[in-house]
Parts: sequence; C-alpha cells; structure tokens
Amino acid sequence: MSQLKTLEAYQKAYQKSIENPEEFWDEIAHQFLWKEKWTKTLEWNFAEPNIKWFINGKFNITENAIDRHLLTSANKTAFIWESNFVDKPNRIITYQNLHDEVCKVANTLKSFGVKKGDRVCIYMPMIPETIFAMLACARIGAVHSVVFAGFSASALAGRIQDSDCKVVLTTDGAYRGVKDIPIKAVVDEALQTCPFVEKVLIYKHTNTAITLTNRDVIWQNVVTNASQLCTPELMNSEDVLFILYTSGSTGKPKGVVHTCGGYMIYTCYSFQNVFQMNLDTDSKDLFWCTADVGWITGHSYIAYGPLLAGVSSVIFEGVPSFPDAGRFWNVIDKYKVTHFYTAPTAIRALEACGLEFVTPYKLNSLKVLGSVGEPINEEAWHWYHKNIGKENCPIVDTWWQTETGGILISALAGVTPTKPSFATLPLPGIQPLLVDEKGDEILGNNVEGNLCIKFPWPSIIRTTYGDHARCKQAYFETYPGLYFTGDGCRRDENGFYRITGRVDDVMNISGHRIGTAEVESAINSHTDVVESAVVGYPHDIKGQGIYAYVIAPSTTKNHDNLRKEILAEVTKIIGAIAKPDKIQIVSGLPKTRSGKIMRRILRKIAEGEITNLGDTSTLLDPAVVEEIVKGRI
Ligand code: WTA
Repeated sequence: MSQLKTLEAYQKAYQKSIENPEEFWDEIAHQFLWKEKWTKTLEWNFAEPNIKWFINGKFNITENAIDRHLLTSANKTAFIWESNFVDKPNRIITYQNLHDEVCKVANTLKSFGVKKGDRVCIYMPMIPETIFAMLACARIGAVHSVVFAGFSASALAGRIQDSDCKVVLTTDGAYRGVKDIPIKAVVDEALQTCPFVEKVLIYKHTNTAITLTNRDVIWQNVVTNASQLCTPELMNSEDVLFILYTSGSTGKPKGVVHTCGGYMIYTCYSFQNVFQMNLDTDSKDLFWCTADVGWITGHSYIAYGPLLAGVSSVIFEGVPSFPDAGRFWNVIDKYKVTHFYTAPTAIRALEACGLEFVTPYKLNSLKVLGSVGEPINEEAWHWYHKNIGKENCPIVDTWWQTETGGILISALAGVTPTKPSFATLPLPGIQPLLVDEKGDEILGNNVEGNLCIKFPWPSIIRTTYGDHARCKQAYFETYPGLYFTGDGCRRDENGFYRITGRVDDVMNISGHRIGTAEVESAINSHTDVVESAVVGYPHDIKGQGIYAYVIAPSTTKNHDNLRKEILAEVTKIIGAIAKPDKIQIVSGLPKTRSGKIMRRILRKIAEGEITNLGDTSTLLDPAVVEEIVKGRI
C-alpha cells in the first residue's frame, strides 16, 4: 500500500502530485478493487463547479472495505465496541462478522424496496449497528444521510425532508453517560412532518418503551434472519455515496455530497499516511477515533478509512467523563490502543479535571496521537504530548472539513515534523494558498490570509444536495478559480500552516460547526424576541462559546425567564449543542445606516475587548454600544 515512510519520500510524492496529479492518483487508485477501470482520471472546473474523478470506473466501496480483507484477514478484528458502561461486556466484530451483518442489513433494506440512489436517514448512537447501516446502504447503492443523534426532532425533520429519505434507521434509545435518551421518540416527532417516509427500522438497544406505528419494524425481528450474502451493487465512481449536513453562513444546513470513487481513494490514502499504522494483516496496532459517526470525522476515520486500510479500531459509545474523567485512558489501557484521535475540546476538558485521572493509567501502548476539529492551543498540545503521549508520540494536528472528505493539512506521524498548534504541511495532492481580501495570492512565508485550495483532490465536495448553486456560491465564487475553505490561516517561516479559525459566520463550538444565522433564527422564533445577533467568543474548554445579544420588547420584564425559554427554544429547534452560553438582553443592536448589524463590534464586546472598539461613528445609534458594553456578561 502507499505509505510514505520518510521525509524525502513525502517530498518526492508531493512534488509528483503537483507536477502530475492525474498520474499520481492513478497509481494509488490502481491498488483498489475495481470491476471496471476508469477511462479518464479527472475532469474539472471550479467555475460551475464540475469535478469528476476516475470517470466510468465501476466498483463497490464495501468490497474494498470488507470483502477484500476476507481472503487474508477474515478473523481479524474490525471493531472492538466499548459500551457506555465501564463494566458491560464489549463486542468484537471481525471482518467476517462485519461482512455478514452488513449483508443482513442490506438485504433488509432491499426488502423494504430501497434501491440504488434512494436516500436513507441514519439517526443512531455509537453502536456497531450504525456502521453496519452505513455500509449496508453503500452495499446496495443507497445514499446514507447520517444525522447526529443529538440533533432535535425539528433539525432531524429538516434533514429528512431536504434529501427526501425513504427509510429511517434508529434505535429505541441511546446512552450518553448518565443519560438515557429516547431516540425513537425524537424520530416519531420528526416524522409528523415527513409523511413520505415509508419504513422505520428500530434497533432495540436500551429497551426504553417505544410506541410502534404501521411503518415501524424492529431490527431484531427482521435483520437477524436475513441472508448473509448480498451481491454488491455496481457503482460508478461519481455515484453519490453519502450526504452529510453541515452548517454554513445562512440559516439552513447544507447537504454536502460525496461520491464513491474519490472518497474511497482519498480517505484510505490519508488514513494510511497521516496515522502511519502498521498495515500488516497480523499487526496489533489499534486505532481509536473518539468522534461521533454523525460527523465527517466519524464517517472518514471510524467507518471508511480504517476499514479500507484493513485495520482494527475501537468504537466507543460513551462520553469522556463517565463514570469519571479517566475513561479515555482506561479504554486505551484496556485494549492497548496504539493510535488515538480526539478533539482539542476533549483534551482541554480532561486537562481541567486534573492529572489524578491520568496517573493511574500506563498509556504505554500509545504510538501516535491525533487532534481534529478546531485549532489546538499550545497549552493543550503540550499537556497532551507530555501527559498522554509521555513525550514519545508524535501529535498529528489534522486540518480538514466536511467538504474536503479527508485530512488535507497535517503532519504524517513520525515522518514529517510537527510543531505545536500547527497543522504543518499539505498532504500530497493538496495545493493550499493564502489570499487577501481581494483574492490576490499572498506569496512568501510569515504571512497570514484566507485559506484556499487551487486544484481538486479526489474527495472534494461535488455539490450541495438539491442546490448546486449554493455549492458554487459558498465555496467557489468568493475567489474565482479557487476552493475557499472559510478558514483564516498563517504560514510560518518554514512554510508550515496554522489554521487560525473561521473567517465567516460559522462558529466552532467544542469542535462542532454551528452557523450564527442558524442560532439566530432559532432564537428569533421565540415570540418575545424582536431580533438577535449571535457571535462566538473564546471559551476555555469549548474553544468557542456562543454569545447571544437579544432584543426583547420593553414589556418583557422577567429576563431570567426569557433566557430559560430561549435556551429551550434553541434546544427544540437545533439541539442542545447550539445553546448559547451567554444571553444578554439589549434594547438595540449596533447597526450601520443601511441596517447591517456590526458583528465586528459585538464580537469584540463578547471577547471583552471593550477599550478598542474601532470606529463606531458610522453607526445609526452609537449610544447603543455603550449600553451593550455596560450590560456585558
Ligand atoms: C475547523 C471537521 C484548526 C476549521 C473535520 C474547519 C480545524 C472546520 C482543524 C471544519 C484543525 C478542523 N485545526 N481548525 N486541525 N480541523 N478545523 O466540517 O475551522 O466539522 O473549517 O470538519 O473545523 O469542521 P467540520
């Protein structure tokens, strides 16, 4: 397989990938199992955008992720599942088990009438069945749309409607730490506005009481008896593999579309090279990505990447703080995890709990540590490096996005240099550049600008589901000819990249992307809210917190009550992850004479930078700023 093992090999591969990208990816793609080879490697323009890789190639991703390994590694562990409860027995799923279970779910979906191209929504917790469900869709060519099981009924309904899902897969309930969450009840509520959904398949997991309707089918009643053989559907490289919704600058989440061929090649290649696991069939290396499969990190580096590479990994149902803040370290020792991949917010939260939760554990199986989802501050980096990695494990700070499908900028563990809080260097095939406001490239080193990419890589977003114009507008129009990431970035004297954070109206709360417009629209749906403005502000644990400025009518006297109701409203419309940390009730918002809210000022106030608010003379009513500063929380 294509693992780069030295700095020179990386440099050579990078050079080649730029000079001749098609030949470079061609060679890598040839290492996969194809039923028919592609006739053209790449066709693209960023203007429409129209991006196609491995044109006319035919194959099925599950044959590459599962069947291909059966010859040599049928009994190798694909997954170890660790329950929410520390004393509950784990489950071991071998590649053979995985094959059989995926086929059973695939055949069940077929019996429901699901066909190639149909959309299937998966709203499930972190259990192996969730991965079986995703792969079962891929097996029969259905398009999965996984929705994080923390989203509310209304958020779920919006996503089911947007992609017109025929079937929903769910569980009765989910465990998250001490909580027992009634998942099926959320689906029931969502489906009140989705009459077109034909079937709901429910895996009984918590034995929470559920009400059944005509369209409901219990997983254990049908899947258990289904056939363990299912011929994979022949898919074209550019057939859709999945849709994953993510937040953007406007109120409505976008359905990011990834296709089969490019996504397969890039998630596998990036996984193999960034983490540098030993890929021998009898290797004892064990990967653990703590993300939820409802986000892109879970798609690419719990489900597809590790399976395509044929490695063993851990799936964890619980949360880092249950039963105590030593849970991650307990699991690492228990299974001898070698490669551990988590988010800075988790590192900071566990650091805050104190070293007494770390010292009982050896952590001597660890070889490589990873970070993803948000900028990792230097302090957290050093804590992670010293206390978890015992100064022996390289940290790969991996920068990427839902839209990029896989990691674009990162060190390759043990192969290329690392630097605290720097994602460092682009992977082969990735051509980053920094641009100024006008879109002119900023050359040289020791510079800062907006991060763009100038050439397509195999797993770049193809479209936003049902709205191609939105894809073009969001990523390809700001700087014509370039893919715009929405991130600000600095390039140091050595050419290493450091992502500084979003430059658009997207916040990053505990590594989760949330649009300010989405939160504002949820807040505004409260009848007592006249208008609101939401900004992110630095938060010690979450990276960013949500600060909401809300205008209420003067007749609303009980502001504490209003704050509580606003929190409930946001939880109902989006989910608990989008709840503001601070709500300041104000009588007005700083606006320009043309009515535009001056977010720059609100951001500064939220950050506590009140002495230098910049020029406020262009405001319609500068006095409002003084009032907001005085009432700051
Ligand atoms: C941020 C998550 C700094 C960034 C994989 C990006 C990061 C957004 C890093 C995408 C990192 C992700 N360093 N920032 N290593 N990784 N980000 O779509 O702002 O959930 O645009 O994908 O997270 O979030 P998404």
